[in-house]
Amino acid sequence: MEFRVLGPLEVEVHGGLLPLGGVKQRILLAALLLEANRVVSAERLLGALWPEGPPPGGSKALQMHVSQLRKTLEQAVPGGSGRELIATRPPGYLIALERDELDLSVFERLVNEARSGAAIDTAAAWRRALGQWRGPPLADLYAEPFARAEIARLESMRLDALEELFESELACGRHHDLVAELEGLAAEHPLRERLRGQLMLVLYRSGRQAQALEVYQDTRRHLVEELGIEPGRPLQDLERAVLQHDPALDLSAATPVAPASVEAQSQPVEPGRQRPERKLATVLFADLVGSTELGEQHDPERTRALLERFYDAMAAEIAASGGTTEKFVGDAIMAAFGAPVALEDHATRALHAAVAMRARLEEQFGAKLALRVGVCTGEVVVGPAREGSSFVTGDSVNVAARLEQLAEPGEILVGERTAAAVRGIFELSELMAVDVRGKRGRVRCARLLGPLAAQQPRGAPMLRRTFVGRAAELELLRATYLRAVQEEGAHLVTILGEAGVGKTSLVGALAEAVSRESPPPRWRSGRCAAYGRGLTFRPLGEILKEYLGILDSDPPTAVRQSLGGRDILGLTLDIDVAQDLAPIVARERLHDAWVELFEEMAASEPVVILVEDLHWANEELLDLLERILAEVRASLLLVATARPELLDRRPGWGGGRRNAITLALEPLSREESARLLGGLVDAPVPARLRRLLLERAEGNPFFLEELLATLIDRGDLERRGDEWSVREPTADLAAPDSVQAVLAARIDLLPPGAKAALQAAAVIGRTFWAGPVRELLGGEEVDFRGLE
Ligand SMILES: Nc1ncnc2c1ncn2[C@@H]1O[C@H](COP(=O)(O)OP(=O)(O)OP(=O)(O)O)[C@@H](O)[C@H]1O
Ligand SMILES: [Mg+2]
Repeated sequence: MEFRVLGPLEVEVHGGLLPLGGVKQRILLAALLLEANRVVSAERLLGALWPEGPPPGGSKALQMHVSQLRKTLEQAVPGGSGRELIATRPPGYLIALERDELDLSVFERLVNEARSGAAIDTAAAWRRALGQWRGPPLADLYAEPFARAEIARLESMRLDALEELFESELACGRHHDLVAELEGLAAEHPLRERLRGQLMLVLYRSGRQAQALEVYQDTRRHLVEELGIEPGRPLQDLERAVLQHDPALDLSAATPVAPASVEAQSQPVEPGRQRPERKLATVLFADLVGSTELGEQHDPERTRALLERFYDAMAAEIAASGGTTEKFVGDAIMAAFGAPVALEDHATRALHAAVAMRARLEEQFGAKLALRVGVCTGEVVVGPAREGSSFVTGDSVNVAARLEQLAEPGEILVGERTAAAVRGIFELSELMAVDVRGKRGRVRCARLLGPLAAQQPRGAPMLRRTFVGRAAELELLRATYLRAVQEEGAHLVTILGEAGVGKTSLVGALAEAVSRESPPPRWRSGRCAAYGRGLTFRPLGEILKEYLGILDSDPPTAVRQSLGGRDILGLTLDIDVAQDLAPIVARERLHDAWVELFEEMAASEPVVILVEDLHWANEELLDLLERILAEVRASLLLVATARPELLDRRPGWGGGRRNAITLALEPLSREESARLLGGLVDAPVPARLRRLLLERAEGNPFFLEELLATLIDRGDLERRGDEWSVREPTADLAAPDSVQAVLAARIDLLPPGAKAALQAAAVIGRTFWAGPVRELLGGEEVDFRGLE
C-alpha cells in the first residue's frame, strides 16, 4: 500500500486509489499517518476529530471510526492483507507502516540522502525528493484545525528543500532556469531571507543588478514593517557585494556548467504525480469587499482573527463541494474543482460552493462584508507541485480572476462554458460580453441568479424523447417485482452501468410497467448525493419524510412528533436522537426500526424503493440496506442504480443472496443506437456523419444526445418547426464538455498504467476517444478493459 500526505490524502492499492470515505475517516487516517509507527493518544485523536469538543460517548465513536478505517483498509486487499495495520496501543492507536509506504517518509529519506552529499548530482537528488510532492500537503483537510499546524510544518520542510535545490542549481550555473520560479516563490514568502537572497543572486547573474537591489529593499521593508527587524548579516553582505559588482558573485569560470541533469530527466515519472496533466476543470475566485472598513472598526488582532475564521469557513465550504482551495491571495481565495482529480460535475460543484460561501459570509458578518465571485470552466494544466504557486494554471485561472474583479459586491459571475455546463441546475442571466485584459476578443459571461433544480435534466431540450432496447432487462425487473409480491419477501436488484448508459431511464420504464400490474406498487425513491451536508441516510430520509408527511420546514419537535414513538428514525433525518446511546446500540435500533417501518409500509400494498446512484452511498447506508434486505418479510422490491465503482468499494455487494441480483447494463447495440438516432432526429442524416456519431457515442445514449446537442449549437443541425435540416459538420466532432467530464472522471479512477496510456491522448487536445489514443500509441494494444 502507498499512503500519501504530500498533496491530497491518498491511499493507493494495486495501482488504484482507495476511496477513503467521509471526512472523519480521512482525518483519523491523516492524524495516524503524520505520526506513523508511533502511538497517537486517543485524546489527541478525539481533538482532531471533534475540534469543538467530542460528543457524549466520544471514545465509543472514536472506536467505531477506527474499526471502520481498519475495515476500509482491510477490504482494499483482496482476501485481506493479513497484517495488523492499525494497532491498539494504550493510550491510543498506532499505524504500522513498512519502509517507503508513506510519501512523507520517502521524502525525509531522500532529503537525508541529498543532504549527505553522496549523490553525484545534488540538484537531481533534491529534485527527486521534491518529486514526492503532489500539491499542498493534506490539501483536502486544509480546513481541519488539527491539520493546520502540521500543514505549516510540512510546507516549511518543503521550502527548506527547495532552497537547498536552488543552492545546488546556482552552484552549477543554472541560474537562467530559476528566475521565474524564484520570483514566484519569493513573492509568496517575503520574509524568507535565504530565498530572497537566491533571487537577488539569479537576478544579478542575469545582468539585472537594479532589480536585485530592489528585491533587497523590498525584503527589508517587509522585515521592518512586519517584524521590526533589519535583514540578517548574509543578506546585507549580499547587497553590498551586488552594489560593488564583487567578482565573488560571478560563477567561477572553472566551475563546469553541468547540463540539465540527465539523471533527473531519465527518472521514471509516475503517472498522475509529476507529469503535468491537462484537465477540464472549473476555477473559482472569491474576494472580500469591505474588509478594509472592517479593519478600521476593530483592532488589527481582532480583524485578523475574524478574517481567519472567515477563511476557514470558506475553505470548508469549498471542500464540502469537493473543491481544492488553491491559495489565498490577499483577501482573495482561489479554488479548483475537477483538479487535481477530475470530477464529472465540476461546474455545478463550483457554483454550489459559491452560493454556500456567500450565505456563510452573510451569516457571519451580515451586510458588513460582501463577496465577489468569478467562476470559469476550461482546460487547466495540473502541474507538478510547486510551493506557494498554484498547481493549476491556464487561461481559465486568469479569466476567473478577471471575472471576480468585474463582479459587483455580492455577485457571482460565471464564464460561458460554466454557464453551459450548469444548464437546468442554476438560473443565469443572459450572456454579456466583457473585456478581459490580455485576451483578444471579449469574454462572454453571465450572472448567477439562483438555483433551479437538484439534478440536471438530461437530454437536449430540442430532441425528441424515445426509448429503445432494454426489453430483456425490463422483463427481468418486472419478473423480480412479481416474485417479491408473490413471496412476500424483500428482493434487491442493482442496476450497474457507466454514466449515461441508461440506468435511470430503465428504472423509469420499469415504474411505468409495474404501474400496470395488479397489484401496482407504492413507488418511493431517494437519491444518494456525491457531496453536501447530511448525506449519510439522505435517500431513506426522503422516503421517510414522504411517508410520514414531514416537511423540510418542520422544527425538530414537530418532526419527533411525526415519528410517533419511533424516535430513533430521526437519525435518518440527521436529528440527534441517539444522545447517550452507544453508537453500536443506536445503529442496531435504527436498523430494527427501518425493518419494522418497511414491513408496515408494505403490509397493505407492495412497495418498490428506488435508491439512485448508490456508488455515492456511504458504508452506513449500505449496511442498513443489506439489513433491510435480509430481514424484511413483506412484498418489497429494492431497486438500486449505481456506477461500477460501487463494486470497488463493496466487491460483495448483493452477492451470495438468493434474493439479490445484479444487472449490468451494457451499451446499446449498434442497431439500437441507430434506432435511437433515428428517433431523436427525424430526418435523414448523411451517412458519414451518422457513422461518426454512432462510433463516437460508443452505444452510450447520453453521449449520443450530447453530440447532437453540439451539432445543434454549431448550427450543423437545425430544426424549423417539425423539420430538421442536417449539414455535414463544419469541424471535427470533439467530445463535448459534458462527455469529456464523464470520461475524465472515469479515467481518474483507473490504475496508473492504463491512465498513463490514456493521458497520451491529452496531446491531441480535448479528445479522449479510444480510436485516436490507440493510433497515438503506434498501434500498440492498450488495455482498455478498465474503461469498458
Ligand atoms: N434505452 C434508452 N433509449 C433512449 N434513450 C435513452 C435510453 N437510455 C438512456 N437514454 C437517454 O440517455 C440519457 C442518459 O440516460 P440516464 O440518465 O438514464 O443514464 P444513467 O445511466 O442513469 O446515468 P447516470 O449514471 O449519470 O445517472 C438520458 O437523456 C436518456 O433519455
Ligand atoms: Mg442516473
